[in-house]
Amino acid sequence: MNIVVVYTSKYGSTEKYAHWIAEALGCNAKKLSEVSSKDLLMYDVIIYGGGLYASGISGFKKFLKILGTADNKTLALYMVGLTNPEEQGAYTEIADKNIPPEWKNRFEIFAFRGDQQFSRMSALHKIMMRVPKSMAEKKPPEQRTEEDRMFIENFGEDLFFSNKAYILPLVEYIKNTTI
Ligand SMILES: Cc1cc2nc3c(=O)[nH]c(=O)nc-3n(C[C@H](O)[C@H](O)[C@H](O)COP(=O)(O)O)c2cc1C
Repeated sequence: MNIVVVYTSKYGSTEKYAHWIAEALGCNAKKLSEVSSKDLLMYDVIIYGGGLYASGISGFKKFLKILGTADNKTLALYMVGLTNPEEQGAYTEIADKNIPPEWKNRFEIFAFRGDQQFSRMSALHKIMMRVPKSMAEKKPPEQRTEEDRMFIENFGEDLFFSNKAYILPLVEYIKNTTI
């Protein structure tokens, strides 16, 4: 089975996961910007990873364009965001919003927690990060979630949540479908 991990990553978390997955499956990880439709034809299993930005999966639309019909291929998608994947429903909503209806049943979906690299963020991204902070601040303190508190208390800081253990269900899924 020919397997590949394709990813889009702005600050490195999705890239880190791509390399962990590739290492676990003994395959290559490639940046979406370096992959063509023709390249993808040779793979039986394609895993796409994208960081989350304002509830959008980075590069996913472009990836679908170059993917073609992908008949008979096994497809998996992993999203990397600051949201805790254990928080019920958070990533289901993002998947629903980002995956067009005709692709809904084609991807096995996974969510991993990434880092917040505030010190490396662009000026625009730093401004955008004020939105969840001020939304959290508007809530009465007793109604704030763990995440709200994170946005308020850790604003402007670098936070490292990436963890290799998150990849295990994806790796198991691919191994089970390719036996
Ligand atoms: C402007 C901006 C918007 C973001 N929006 C979301 C979001 O909607 N949901 C989420 O879980 N994380 C969000 N994040 C956090 C990133 O997804 C997280 O930092 C992730 O690790 C980025 O992956 P990358 O470095 O591979 O691009 C956002 C970060 C920035 C800077």
